[in-house]
Amino acid sequence: MSAATLLAVGNWKMNTTVQEAMALASDVRRRLEDDPPGGVQTVLCPPFISLAPLHDLLKDSNIALGAQNLHPQTSGAFTGEISPTMLQGLCRYVIVGHSERRHIMREGYHVVGQKVKAAVDAGLTPIICVGETLSQRRQGAAEAVVRRQLETGLSGIADPRHVVIAYEPVWAIGAGVPATPVVVADITGGAIRTELANLYDDATAQKIAVLYGGSVNPENVTAFLEQPSIQGALVGGASLDAAQFAQIVRLTAEAKGTD
Ligand code: PGA
Repeated sequence: MSAATLLAVGNWKMNTTVQEAMALASDVRRRLEDDPPGGVQTVLCPPFISLAPLHDLLKDSNIALGAQNLHPQTSGAFTGEISPTMLQGLCRYVIVGHSERRHIMREGYHVVGQKVKAAVDAGLTPIICVGETLSQRRQGAAEAVVRRQLETGLSGIADPRHVVIAYEPVWAIGAGVPATPVVVADITGGAIRTELANLYDDATAQKIAVLYGGSVNPENVTAFLEQPSIQGALVGGASLDAAQFAQIVRLTAEAKGTD
């Protein structure tokens, strides 16, 4: 149905020292190297301090790197922040608007939109996370929340070709229990595609990769990927286990028939 790139993205969150990150990345690489699964872009998102060493470590591999966040300004008096300029050359992707940043760090709709624009302006591909909380879902507001997150997140983007959307219902993240594929497809194939078509046009909307994230593991990933409206997974906990993550990459290729 869609020409969007298939992606398997590992979000390591605030885990791994530099040494551990190098060992984990090497392990993932080794497991995918012998018989590389076709048609899937593998992306590892380690903590900032591991981006430079992993960039060197993985430079001859098919594995791409992503950051977990960025500041919207290119430089300045923002102690402790990392700018898009600093990420250029170190990674191709950057996660923006993850629910942990929206809810724990209180990042609002507007700031997420600024970060998305800053990423695209710097030549990075933002992986924009959207998703409703449990109380928003119970109030019947899931679609409206996701549509507003898309509208504000993409407000500065005229050409969304290099943008990835990740639907991560907040209640399914780190919960051990994922959303069901039917519930997810309802949003990814419904509200998300409709809003993208609304903001751009139908053909453009179909080319944007939409990922699912929230308690993804090798046992459940295939059921999500069998949904035509899902082009990959954003994986937290299971991406810290090289065997499980490599398996998820392989299962992505298998489910989509690209291997
Ligand atoms: P999880 O995290 O796979 O551990 O639920 C997903 C995410 O937060 O990106």
